[in-house]
Parts: sequence; C-alpha cells; structure tokens
Amino acid sequence: MSNFAFPPSRLANPPLLELRGVVKTYVSEAGEFTALKGIDLDIYPGEFLGIIGKSGAGKSTLLNMITGVDHLTQGEVIARVGHEPVSVHTLSENDLALWRGRSMGIVYQSFQLLPMLTLLENVMLPMDLCGLYHPRESRRRALELLEMVEIAEHAEKLPAFISGGQQQRVAIARALANDPPVIVADEPTGSLDSVTADHIFEVFERLVANGKTIIMVTHEMALMPRFSRHLLIADGEIIPNLTPNPAPAVASRKN
Ligand SMILES: Nc1ncnc2c1ncn2[C@@H]1O[C@H](COP(=O)(O)OP(=O)(O)OP(=O)(O)O)[C@@H](O)[C@H]1O
Ligand SMILES: [Mg+2]
Repeated sequence: MSNFAFPPSRLANPPLLELRGVVKTYVSEAGEFTALKGIDLDIYPGEFLGIIGKSGAGKSTLLNMITGVDHLTQGEVIARVGHEPVSVHTLSENDLALWRGRSMGIVYQSFQLLPMLTLLENVMLPMDLCGLYHPRESRRRALELLEMVEIAEHAEKLPAFISGGQQQRVAIARALANDPPVIVADEPTGSLDSVTADHIFEVFERLVANGKTIIMVTHEMALMPRFSRHLLIADGEIIPNLTPNPAPAVASRKN
C-alpha cells in the first residue's frame, strides 16, 4: 500500500478553500516587496493543516489572503464554506465581514483583543455581531470557552491586566465563539509554555476530530507529525513536500 495518504474527505469533496496563483506585493515607502509569489493550494474539509516556515517566509501573509483580512495583488481565493462557493476577494467589505464572521475563527499572531472590553466581552463580541446566539446564551458560551482555555477566573479583567500567554488563550476562545467550520490560527501556541501549548493543541485535535478544518501556522517542528498535513513555506513559495504525514490526525485519534 502506498504511504501517500490523503485526508479521508479529500477524494469525496471539492476543496473547501482553493488558492489560485495568489501573489501579494506590499507597497510601502521603502519600495515594493513580494511576500507571496504565486501560491496554488487546495485545503480540504477536515484537514488539520500545519504551515511551517522561517520568520518572514510569508506565513501570516498567506493566512491573511485565505481569510480576506488583507487584499491580494493577483490570483483568487475560492471558499466553499457556506452554501455557495465565494470568490473571497471579490466580496464587498460588508459581505466579507459577514461571511468571515460565520465561516472562520481567526487567531491573530498579535491576538488583537479589544483593549476596552473585558475578556468575557471580547469572546462574546463575535457572537453578538453575528447574531447566531441569543445574548444570554452568548455569555454562557463565552464563559465555557474561557474555561476550556483555562482562563475563566480572569473573565472580568481587561486584556492589559493579563499576560501575553493568557491573552493568546482568550484570542483562541474568541476564534471558537461562533463555532466556525474553519479555524485559522497564526502561531496560536507561540506565547504558551509547553504544557499549556499541548492542552491547546489537544483542543484543536478534538475540534478536527469533530469535523472542523484547521489551518495553523507554527515554528514548532515537533508538531509536524500531529498535523494531518503540513506544508513548508520559504520566501513566499510553498516548498514541494514529497513525504506527507502517513496518517491524518483525524483518523489516528479517538475523540
Ligand atoms: N505591511 C507590510 N509592508 C511591507 N512588508 C511587509 C508587510 N507585512 C509583511 N511584510 C513583509 O513580508 C514578508 C512576509 O511577512 P509575514 O508577516 O507573512 O511573515 P511570517 O512568515 O508570518 O513571519 P513571522 O514568523 O515572523 O511571523 C516579510 O519579509 C515582511 O517583512
Ligand atoms: Mg507571522
């Protein structure tokens, strides 16, 4: 039998996310810099995709193209997350915000918590904006999520009064708030100690086992075997990977 294993859903389903010739050139006073040089990538439902690469390789830029939080210079991102496929970068700002709010949970590398809201309010905010949960339900759910990332005791504090690792955990709870089918996480364990990082990684593994698709950037090479697939990125390009992981995390874990 070939050791070239596809995620189980890959053969049956079209890609959930399709990147075609994605180029991102930043233009600043210092000049132009092309951070992504034509990325073609298919991401399938149920994948736990790890994106690995050195600092400056283009990992965060790639995530920003997938989520549509930044404009691309060339190419297209097609998402089949809702009922209809959408070409992410052709949506209006309003439609994009609505689509993103329902489709994706995003853990930003710099957390991006709102400083004037408590931790609990930060986690409730996406629920209140999308209207998927009744306000009373959103409060209960936000507390549960804070408990899951072991930070509920600080729920009423402002972000400035907790540590970086604690803020990172709140950012993870917020990304899960609307129970999105896709989670995009930029080094979500980068500020955590190894025990806490492992706990968060297990939370992600459980989410994948329950049908979520997760795209996660990490520097942590030791995590590579735990993704259902990983890709290496260097200088804005995906390095062809001829040895995918033998078995997807989804299939290898019970619960
Ligand atoms: N707003 C910007 N303007 C100009 N250049 C930028 C901008 N954002 C990123 N870059 C450049 O694009 C390249 C890719 O940046 P990116 O943030 O995607 O890297 P990364 O792989 O996420 O790195 P890290 O691991 O340090 O987070 C880097 O060389 C960076 O300096
Ligand atoms: Mg980055």
